[in-house]
Amino acid sequence: MTLQSLRHSGRSSESNTESSLDDIDIAKRNIATGLSRGRHAHVDRKHAAASKRWKTFWSAFRYLQGLTPKQVDDFMASYVIYNLDWSDEKQMIATLGEDYQQKVGDCLKAYYGVLNHLCALGDVEKMYIPPWMSKKATVRENQLLYEESIAQDIGLKSGDKLFRRSFNAQRGFSNNTFVVQDFNNLPLPFEDETFDAFYQIQALSLCKDIPALFREIYRVVKPGAKISSLDWVSLPAYDPQNPEHAELMRRVKPLIGAVGTPTPESLEKALTDAGFVVLKSDNASIDGLQAPLIDTVDGYFRAMRQVILGLVKLHLIPHHFKTLINRFCLDGLAFIKMDNMRLATTSYRIVAQKPARN
Ligand SMILES: C[S@@+](CC[C@H](N)C(=O)[O-])C[C@H]1O[C@@H](n2cnc3c(N)ncnc32)[C@H](O)[C@@H]1O
Repeated sequence: MTLQSLRHSGRSSESNTESSLDDIDIAKRNIATGLSRGRHAHVDRKHAAASKRWKTFWSAFRYLQGLTPKQVDDFMASYVIYNLDWSDEKQMIATLGEDYQQKVGDCLKAYYGVLNHLCALGDVEKMYIPPWMSKKATVRENQLLYEESIAQDIGLKSGDKLFRRSFNAQRGFSNNTFVVQDFNNLPLPFEDETFDAFYQIQALSLCKDIPALFREIYRVVKPGAKISSLDWVSLPAYDPQNPEHAELMRRVKPLIGAVGTPTPESLEKALTDAGFVVLKSDNASIDGLQAPLIDTVDGYFRAMRQVILGLVKLHLIPHHFKTLINRFCLDGLAFIKMDNMRLATTSYRIVAQKPARN
């Protein structure tokens, strides 16, 4: 489950995210100092980060190499859900049957089981393109900057217990447990007022009933808790009746893996109806544009695609790499165009608070 929460008593939900206060601190210092001070320490940290990156690259590569034909077929078939939308239940049922929720769940498992590793071949192993926070920073540094802003927004303090297994072990938070939970299967398995804060990144389009999920989150966070959400939304300029807009949407949803298409208003309403007070609701990217970062990621994977196609042609890697990378790289330009036209974004941020008890 991507939804992540923290509580002082020590339990937090699982994520594949690699974020930690240490990483955030490094990125912040690197960018703030213009990479000019503490050169030796900086070089060491860069080396450590690069060698870690290579490790995850190779383990992702080896995993993809060993995929069975069924895993590849299931991954390709899973894209059917991105042509659907939670808001059109009739079409969901017509395509997937009455048990469509279960089918979507099966598709998501097949999809993320492969996508996670494809993303790790590049700078998006956390499976999200961050808001464009700094023009000087790389994609990964922008991720860390955004994650730092979350920590500030939800009032995370030094020493608070966090969400990464290795981080928890390192800091001696061995009593923490990680809970994996499908957010389409409510209620959440936590007692009322358990968590001090909550955040999520780009997972809500996979949620069938966002208002119900926010009601559950309201229940499990403590009074006064702040929550942060970064997600995909369609923007006021998007007109579903406009054929160009509709075509862009049809191409972009599978690329970013979105089922639902919330709007800033629908998310705000779901939050306020649940009892939260919205403190911030904005596009977290500079000038509301994420396109420069999408372009960087797209360019990297298109270059990688050329290498992969060459290696497949030479029979140096299995043929299924071609199938996967062709699907993965499809429609990056549509995503950039949609962002530039301000029709939709994946960098919409909302910060909200559960009122404190009087
Ligand atoms: C676009 S990725 C966002 C990545 C995010 N940075 C993270 O750390 O997971 C969407 C995430 O939603 C999660 N997800 C998809 N369907 C879910 C569900 N029904 N319940 C819980 N998490 C789900 C996926 O596992 C994936 O991690």
